[in-house]
Amino acid sequence: NKIRPFISLIMNIGLIVVLIFGAYRVANGYTKVGQILALITYFTLILNSTASLTRIFIRMSRAGASAGRIVEVLKLETTIVDGNKPLEINPSLPHLEFDNVTFSYHGKESHLENISFKLSRGQTLGIIGATGSGKTTIINLIMRFYDPQQGTIKVFGEDIKTLKRDELRRHIGLVLQNDSVFSDTIHENISFSRPHVDLNQVKLAKEIAQADFIDQMPEQYDHEIAQRGTNISGGQRQRLLIARAVASNPELLILDDASSALDYQTDKNLRFAIAKHLKNTTKIIVAQRISSIKDADLILVIDNGRIINQGTHDELAKSSEIYQILVKHQLGEGLA
Ligand SMILES: Nc1ncnc2c1ncn2[C@@H]1O[C@H](COP(=O)(O)OP(=O)(O)O)[C@@H](O)[C@H]1O
Ligand SMILES: [Mg+2]
Repeated sequence: NKIRPFISLIMNIGLIVVLIFGAYRVANGYTKVGQILALITYFTLILNSTASLTRIFIRMSRAGASAGRIVEVLKLETTIVDGNKPLEINPSLPHLEFDNVTFSYHGKESHLENISFKLSRGQTLGIIGATGSGKTTIINLIMRFYDPQQGTIKVFGEDIKTLKRDELRRHIGLVLQNDSVFSDTIHENISFSRPHVDLNQVKLAKEIAQADFIDQMPEQYDHEIAQRGTNISGGQRQRLLIARAVASNPELLILDDASSALDYQTDKNLRFAIAKHLKNTTKIIVAQRISSIKDADLILVIDNGRIINQGTHDELAKSSEIYQILVKHQLGEGLA
């Protein structure tokens, strides 16, 4: 773009020179007007093509640099070995089981220590704990972004290391803390190019995710979202991401601090809608607010990579010191 004004300056100076020189020759009878006009036409044609060529070269060198970066990512070796078993849904076995899982990102201090819990199909797990306590790390292990150094994670009785990774992930609806939306329509952002997610499912997903704001948009589902969602609010972005996660009716729904920008009432409506429409889906809700997890079947209180207390809301409100402190701080903030 910086080159364009420079090129057009040269082009126009060239034209002026041709015109002045041509006018002089025509006036003296050396040349015919038609010859000058033909010269100018050819001159502009050639200059325009040269300008297009430079543009193509600039684009090619830019695309080359971008492609290089993409190839760099694609070339990264993964240490995770894919399994080959298909995922079989067996409601009589625990849907998700952590058995004494210990994990460290770099092999020095452990980021998770002896994590054990069990969830039946359709149950809700709440995870609460300070920033950096290891909540997202638990999610990373379920997704098999990393493998634990010790212990096993089982889905319907199978060690997830033996399962086909794509299948494991296909059954999970995941919203991570800083997930992003795409610069595409609302419909595409929710259906995410999954062929089996049709308009009816997109509409149901909207309803579950409390994303009513879509109805108020002039083009509704065809409304274009700007890159990184800069033309919608944080709460709207979160609801769009939740709609994307629930649209495929996943077996496992994981919301990692995914409703922090919602007000208490909307957050509550969201939880009710999820419970109503996704009865067979096992849910994992990571949250800072007690109110987001208080109805969970099991709540883990995580601190420094360990489960320091676990139980239901009522049990923890009696037995867990940290939980009691959280309840006290958040009392009155829509906890009732
Ligand atoms: N990719 C990573 N590489 C190395 N350390 C990490 C990585 N992700 C998280 N950690 C560390 O693991 C700990 C737990 O992080 P995380 O699970 O993200 O916490 P939470 O989600 O509870 O805020 C933190 O000390 C964090 O610095
Ligand atoms: Mg986190």
